[in-house]
Amino acid sequence: MKKIIPQQRIWLVGASQGIGLELVKHWLAQGHKVIASARQAEQSAELTALRQQYGAHLCCLNVDVSDAQGCAEQAQAAWSIFEGLDLWFYNVGAYQPMSSSEWSWPAFIQMNQSNYLGAVALMLPLQQLFQEQGHGRWIWNASLASYFGLPYAGGYSAPKAALVNLAEALQPELAEQNIQLQIINHGFVRTRLTEKNTFSMPGLLEAQQAAQQIAQAIQRSSAFEIRFPWLLRVSLSLLKWMPYAWSLALTRKTLRTD
Ligand SMILES: NC(=O)c1ccc[n+]([C@@H]2O[C@H](COP(=O)([O-])OP(=O)(O)OC[C@H]3O[C@@H](n4cnc5c(N)ncnc54)[C@H](OP(=O)(O)O)[C@@H]3O)[C@@H](O)[C@H]2O)c1
Repeated sequence: MKKIIPQQRIWLVGASQGIGLELVKHWLAQGHKVIASARQAEQSAELTALRQQYGAHLCCLNVDVSDAQGCAEQAQAAWSIFEGLDLWFYNVGAYQPMSSSEWSWPAFIQMNQSNYLGAVALMLPLQQLFQEQGHGRWIWNASLASYFGLPYAGGYSAPKAALVNLAEALQPELAEQNIQLQIINHGFVRTRLTEKNTFSMPGLLEAQQAAQQIAQAIQRSSAFEIRFPWLLRVSLSLLKWMPYAWSLALTRKTLRTD
């Protein structure tokens, strides 16, 4: 017998491309109501086509998470669209691999804003709204990269690690307010972010496969951390737990020779 899933009001921030866009399609097909946000969500051809298909179940809302004032206003706007939210899913991410000769302040700023501070800019106005509502769920898409800093990827992984650390700190207090906070640490997915990688990516998933795994996992699991794939997770966990003399000797071997 097909399981009936109660309809949810979902705000997905980072919804115009890649994993986010596939999650929008998945949730709409399941009958949920979705607010899709990105910098140009209202102008997105893919989201416009979905609006024609799903009507009032999809609403597009432009949000730039690097604009804290705009985030406060758009959080209120998102809240009023379906008169509250059951799930806020933070999916924004930026990635720019850099060697020391390529370090760039604007790139570090962009990754900090997208991968960490944007979630803070939105949680500040949202917390009170969820608390007054008396229930809700927040899910933040981090990355397995948060487990251990790897050569050239520190600008991406450092704010992801900060996001996870913040979630650990907030989870108990939010749980007392009946707000469930979860993080997702997953591996490589073929999107415009991983197009920048020149190495072979173990366990690479298509965006649609990743979205399906995420949607299924959050439907089944109330665990604080949702993580996949298994092999990459175990490998990065080992790096995290072994003595630094060993882990750093291993990551040094991955430096490019050119
Ligand atoms: N791909 C992977 O291998 C992988 C692995 C682990 C974790 N992740 C995480 O999964 C999430 C989705 O990644 P993806 O690979 O699907 O990336 P993506 O295709 O680049 O999608 C990122 C989304 O975030 C939006 N976004 C970017 N900057 C924004 C801003 N300042 N304000 C509002 N929205 C913004 C983008 O829309 P606009 O640019 O149109 O605004 C887009 O909708 C990210 O958090 C990423 O770190 C990805």
